[in-house]
Amino acid sequence: MNETKPLLEARNLTRYYEVSQGIFQPPAQLKALEGVSFRVSAGKTLAVVGESGCGKSTLARQVTMIERPTSGELLFDGFDLVNLSSQQLKEARQRVQMIFQNPFGSLNPRKKVGSIIAEPLVINTQLSKPEREERVRSMMGKVGLRPEHYERYPHMFSGGQRQRIAIARALMLEPKLVVADEPVSALDVSVQAQVLNLLMDLQQDMNLAFLFISHDLSVVRHIADEVMVMYLGRVAEYGAVEQIFQNPRHPYTQALLASTPHLNAQNRQQRIVLSGELPSPLAPPSGCVFHTRCPYANPRCSAEIPALLTLADGRQTACHGVEEGRI
Ligand SMILES: Nc1ncnc2c1ncn2[C@@H]1O[C@H](COP(=O)(O)OP(=O)(O)O)[C@@H](O)[C@H]1O
Ligand SMILES: [Mg+2]
Repeated sequence: MNETKPLLEARNLTRYYEVSQGIFQPPAQLKALEGVSFRVSAGKTLAVVGESGCGKSTLARQVTMIERPTSGELLFDGFDLVNLSSQQLKEARQRVQMIFQNPFGSLNPRKKVGSIIAEPLVINTQLSKPEREERVRSMMGKVGLRPEHYERYPHMFSGGQRQRIAIARALMLEPKLVVADEPVSALDVSVQAQVLNLLMDLQQDMNLAFLFISHDLSVVRHIADEVMVMYLGRVAEYGAVEQIFQNPRHPYTQALLASTPHLNAQNRQQRIVLSGELPSPLAPPSGCVFHTRCPYANPRCSAEIPALLTLADGRQTACHGVEEGRI
C-alpha cells in the first residue's frame, strides 16, 4: 500500500490463547489473531477498527512486546521484535510506547504528576534531577498541562487531563511508534476531539507513527491515514482512509459505517444492519467468519475462507462477494 520502507511491518501475526474448559475437558484454543499483516510508516497513522472482541488489544500487546505472538513476524525499525535479546528488548521498548483507554489505571495515585511523567527518564536515562524536571515541564507544556499541575496528584484531574498526563509520559523517551488502545473511548465526546487534536499536533511535531485502535469509526476518520478493519481476529478490509470511508467494499465495513452516526450519509442507500452477536472466537463460523451476519452470504461463503485480495485501487478485502463482483 505504501512503497517506502515501513517503520513497523507485521507479517502473518498470529496469537492463540489456551482457554480452560473445565477440569474434564482439554483446553480449547482461542484464535485471537489469525495471520494479520500490516505496515505503519514513520509519522503516519494506521487505525485498527472493529467491534469489541475482534482482537485489537491482542494486536496491541504483540506490537508493544507485552506478549509474544504464537507465530508471525514483527519487524520494527531494524528490530525483529519477536526474537530480541534482552538488551535489544530494552531499546525497542523505549521506541514503542503505549497509551491505554483508562489512564487512571496506569497513573500511580500516590505520585505527583511531575514524577509520574519523569518515570521513564529515571528508569532509562542518566539525566540529573534538574534536567529531568526541565524536560518534564517542557513536555507538560506541549500536551497542554499547566506548570502548577506538576505538584498535583492524578485524582485531581479530569479524564481528558489524565489522558494528557499519560500521553506526556509515553512521549518522554521520544518514541517512534505510539500504540494507542482506545485512547479517547472513556472520554466525553467534546473532550475526545481535543485529545485527538493534541495527538495529531504531537504527531507532526515529533514525527510519531500511531497504531491507533478504536471500536468507533467516527473517532479514526480524522486521525487515520490508513484503516484496517478486523473481524474475529482476521483482516476484513485494509486501505487508505478515504477508500474505507467513501467506498467501503467489505460488507462488514459497510455495516460498521452504517451503524456509526454522522458517518452514514453517503452509505444510506446501502445500509446494512449488523444483526446478531459477534460469534464466539472459540467456535468461529466456518468459511468466511462474517458469513453468519452477512446479508450477501451464499454457500461458498460458509464453506471457503476468503483470501485477502488486493483490489485494483490498492486496498485489500477478504470477501468472496467482492471477488465475484456481486458486491
Ligand atoms: N489472555 C487471554 N486469554 C484468553 N483469551 C483472551 C485473552 N486475551 C484476549 N482474549 C480473547 O481474545 C479475543 C480478542 O480480545 P481483544 O484483543 O481484547 O479484543 P478487542 O480489543 O478487539 O476487544 C476475545 O475473545 C478475548 O476474550
Ligand atoms: Mg480492546
